[in-house]
Order: sequence, then C-alpha cells, then structure tokens
Amino acid sequence: MEFHAPAKINLSLRVLGRRADGFHDLESLMCPVSVFDTLEVTRRVEGELEFVCDDATLPVGDDNLVVRAARLFCGARGIEPRVSIKLTKRIPHGAGLGGGSSDAATTLLALDRLFETRLSRVTLAAMAAELGSDVPFFIYESAAMIRGRGERVEPVAFPHALPLLLIKPPFGVPTPWAYSRWKDACEIPGVPYAAQAFPWGELVNDLERPVFEKYIFLADVKRWLLAQPEATGALMSGSGATVFAVLRSKEDAVSLGERVAREFGADLWLCACETVG
Ligand code: C5P
Repeated sequence: MEFHAPAKINLSLRVLGRRADGFHDLESLMCPVSVFDTLEVTRRVEGELEFVCDDATLPVGDDNLVVRAARLFCGARGIEPRVSIKLTKRIPHGAGLGGGSSDAATTLLALDRLFETRLSRVTLAAMAAELGSDVPFFIYESAAMIRGRGERVEPVAFPHALPLLLIKPPFGVPTPWAYSRWKDACEIPGVPYAAQAFPWGELVNDLERPVFEKYIFLADVKRWLLAQPEATGALMSGSGATVFAVLRSKEDAVSLGERVAREFGADLWLCACETVG
C-alpha cells in the first residue's frame, strides 16, 4: 500500500513561553501542503522490520523516525513488526516543513490500515506525541490549530488553496537552537516581522526573530519577496530554513521562481505548491 506524507507550513506560530520541561508553549495554525514524501508499506511473510530510503543522508537505523514509529506501534499493539517500509523523500530536512514528523505520523496511519487495528485519531495522536512535537498534527490530515508543545491539535476548516512558492537554502536550521534563542533575540531594524493580515487570518512567526539574527539571508529573502508583485505575503515556516511566499495566482510561481534563483542563487530548493485544508 502506498501512502502520502505531506509537508506542512505554519501560517502563524506564536511562542507563548518556555515551560519547566524545556519545551515551549505554542499557538500555531498549521496547514498541510501539496508536496509529499511517499511510503510504500507491505507485510512480510517472515523476517523483521525492513526500512529503506532513497535519501542516503538520512539514518536508516533505530533512530530514524519511521523505524521508531513502526516499533512503537507494533510494541503497543503486541504485533510482530513484520513489515517492509520504503520511503521516497521529496521534503527537505532542516526546513521547517515537518518532513520527518509527517513520515512518522504516516507510518502510524499506514500500520493502522495494514493491520486493520482501526485505532482512533486520539489514540494514534497520543502515540505520535511520543515521537515529536509536530507528529500529532499529521495524524489528523487537516489544517489545525496547535497548542501546548504541539500535542493539542484542533482540526479547523481551511478551504483556501493558497498558491505558494517554498524557498529553502542549502543549509538547515536546528529546531532546538531556534527555540533556545527565542527569549533573548532582538529584531533587526528594517526587517519586517509584523503580522500580515489576510481574510482567513494572519501570517506571523515568532521564531523569525531568533533565526533571522543568525541567518540574515532568510530575512533578506523574506523582505525581497514582500516587494514582489506576485506575492501577497511572505513568512518563514516553523523554525526555518524555508521561507514561503503566498502568491496571487498559481501561474506566478514560474516567473517568481526564476527571479528568486537569479537574485539569490541557483542552489536554492524551490517548490510551487498550495495549501490543502
Ligand atoms: O519535539 P521535537 O523533537 O520535534 O522538538 C525538537 C526540539 O525543539 C525540542 O527538543 C525543543 O528544544 C524544541 N521545541 C520546543 N518547544 C516545542 C517544540 C519543540 O522548545 N513546542
């Protein structure tokens, strides 16, 4: 069976404060987008859990999130993990697009289908929370308001297919580092951080402050995007390093993408896609 593991963007991300356990309380509107990794999951007659991935830079051992998800699921249900999982990556890592989290959540959803265990989303999301803060969101396969450290997921209707251009430089941003700098970070004069109002809500990300301090390139990309006629808004996703533009129309992605590459270099990862509510 083949399953799609979509990327996400954070349309809003408010950090409310640091908690005693070291995590941060959040309020974030997250939305899946139409770019996805693929998981091919099959039952094996004999043998152990088998995991292969087309991206050689990812670990395929027990610390891979897909392997951890499969072991967690099978352990909790008392099932032998006799499955083969083949992961095809399209979502870059260190991107703020939730690729690894989505792969993990999709593994739980896939095994629930494969073994016909029919677990509720609440049960699967509780398992997902053990794997990472962003993982429960992907269990609901919907746009959602996220609270707590990410484990409180309230699915919301988001019937707007916003056309997007995702832009990621060759470097990634480590998420723990971004959060650790949140409290003490300052705004850089001339960089736009203010919430951008739309009929459906607002674009704003509290992690831009710490991340832009170190990765000024990302602030430059955002500022440049906001000055382009094709873009109605621009924001960093999650803890970066992806910056996305909300476009007036889908067709604008090609011309804008060409100019982005000319302005900032051809080694950027560019992806035209849209939000899926
Ligand atoms: O939960 P996950 O492993 O994805 O989080 C990675 C890191 O990001 C955490 O170890 C923590 O440093 C930071 N984080 C946080 N508050 C959150 C989510 C993540 O401080 N709500």
